[in-house]
Amino acid sequence: MNSTHLPPGDEPVPGLGLPLLYNLVYCSVATAGVDDAAVDRIVATAQRLNPRHGITGWLVFGRGIFFQWLEGPRDSVQALMATLRADPRHTNVICLSESEEQRERLFPDWGMERVSADDVREVLQDALDTSESAQHRLALGDLLMQLDAGGLPALGRAA
Ligand SMILES: Cc1cc2nc3c(=O)[nH]c(=O)nc-3n(C[C@H](O)[C@H](O)[C@H](O)COP(=O)(O)O)c2cc1C
Repeated sequence: MNSTHLPPGDEPVPGLGLPLLYNLVYCSVATAGVDDAAVDRIVATAQRLNPRHGITGWLVFGRGIFFQWLEGPRDSVQALMATLRADPRHTNVICLSESEEQRERLFPDWGMERVSADDVREVLQDALDTSESAQHRLALGDLLMQLDAGGLPALGRAA
């Protein structure tokens, strides 16, 4: 692919051929009054803004808890996190994992996709099954293990 067509942040690192991507996963607690319609508005904003900053990912909302996966250039993801932490629509933002690696994007077509809590296991399993990167498979395998062990509160068993 011609590198002029890549999203911001996907310019390959010279000599390595893969972009340097920062990945951050967090969960948080929605504040009073935040309902499904409010979450749809958040996702619409994210879909408008994230591509400008080379950010891709997905957001789960279930039982009053958010769970978000973000990847993109480090500066963009960290700037978004600073904005997010100040957003009154949620509180108790807990970072679950942060890493920076040279690799392809896991969800290249999702500026921000809303995923239901019921479907998140399938999203992760699909990515694991189709990934050609050992790094990806390790990261996704870890996340699935945490999920199956009940360690991701936002995705806990349906009430
Ligand atoms: C749980 C949650 C997830 C969000 N995710 C994003 C996101 O991925 N991208 C984004 O631009 N804004 C996201 N927002 C909204 C931002 O906090 C902020 O309102 C938006 O970026 C507009 O920023 P501004 O008020 O500085 O213009 C999210 C908000 C919440 C509560």
